[in-house]
Amino acid sequence: MAPTDRLQQVREHLVGGAPSNKDPTRVDGHVILITGGAQGIGKAAADLLARQGAKIAINDVDAAKAKAAADELQAAGCDAFFLAGDLLDEAFPERLVNAVVARFGRINCLINNAGFCVDSAVHKMTDAKFDIIMKIHNYTPFRMIRALSSHWMDPANLDMPKSIINISSTSGLHGAMGQINYSTAKAGIIGMTKTIAAEWGRYNVRCNAVAYGWIDTRITRPPDGSETVALAGQEIVTGIPLSAKKWRDVSDIPLQRPGTTSDAAGVLLFLASPLASYVTGTCVECTGGRYL
Ligand SMILES: NC(=O)c1ccc[n+]([C@@H]2O[C@H](COP(=O)([O-])OP(=O)(O)OC[C@H]3O[C@@H](n4cnc5c(N)ncnc54)[C@H](O)[C@@H]3O)[C@@H](O)[C@H]2O)c1
Repeated sequence: MAPTDRLQQVREHLVGGAPSNKDPTRVDGHVILITGGAQGIGKAAADLLARQGAKIAINDVDAAKAKAAADELQAAGCDAFFLAGDLLDEAFPERLVNAVVARFGRINCLINNAGFCVDSAVHKMTDAKFDIIMKIHNYTPFRMIRALSSHWMDPANLDMPKSIINISSTSGLHGAMGQINYSTAKAGIIGMTKTIAAEWGRYNVRCNAVAYGWIDTRITRPPDGSETVALAGQEIVTGIPLSAKKWRDVSDIPLQRPGTTSDAAGVLLFLASPLASYVTGTCVECTGGRYL
């Protein structure tokens, strides 16, 4: 196909041909799979994308919260599905992708969002703590993406909108005290993002990352021991202690506040929607301006 024909085809697909009266912030009918979508940033994204017309598939290791999130979406009129399960189980990403394709017939967007931190100073960081963070923030997104290969490389799906959004962090861009494992993994996911964008552009797949700064969720609130991620027989306590005073000081954040989950979700809508139809291989920072 000549590049100009392709351009016209894409244009018609995105805006419905000229004159355009389609709202490019809408993702009507797009099937969007969000890992870790039961709470925090993932849930806010599910809610916003559903309001913009998407069909939502949620995965989370917390089965009760995943069901509640999917039920809430259904009650609001969204076609929603959930599959609870632990993404650290090597076989699970492929099972998840297959289940969503079986339920909806396709996947248009994957948001690799599930995650947590297990912090430690460099000299106290164990291999086990390093390993689990590489697994959730690098191996899991890689396995999710690989599981999409045959579906997305199928020539019959060439013109279907397809995109991936990987969740990175300012820890990956700038490093972070106590996060040798997390900062390494969150830097790695940016390399993965660029590689997928380069390899899969020819299949009409966009792939971008978002590096969040301080977003107010349970992983950044002070740990009180009540919020845990139950994984493979261990309870991982989430939260950043109050003693991290420098990190909690907003005076170096130009917008002078932490971000909300709605702030975080807005970037995901932009990247998932036709507004970002020519944006790929990039990492958007959502930080309130921190680290300028
Ligand atoms: N909150 C922030 O300030 C911040 C900053 C930078 C990056 N991030 C990243 O954003 C993403 C979302 O984090 P959040 O702040 O919304 O935290 P959160 O704890 O509110 O949500 C994360 C979700 O992931 C799920 N999850 C964790 N491990 C899982 C597994 N093995 N299988 C399936 N589900 C699993 C959790 O159950 C939880 O529902 C993470 O990748 C995190 O690293 C967050």
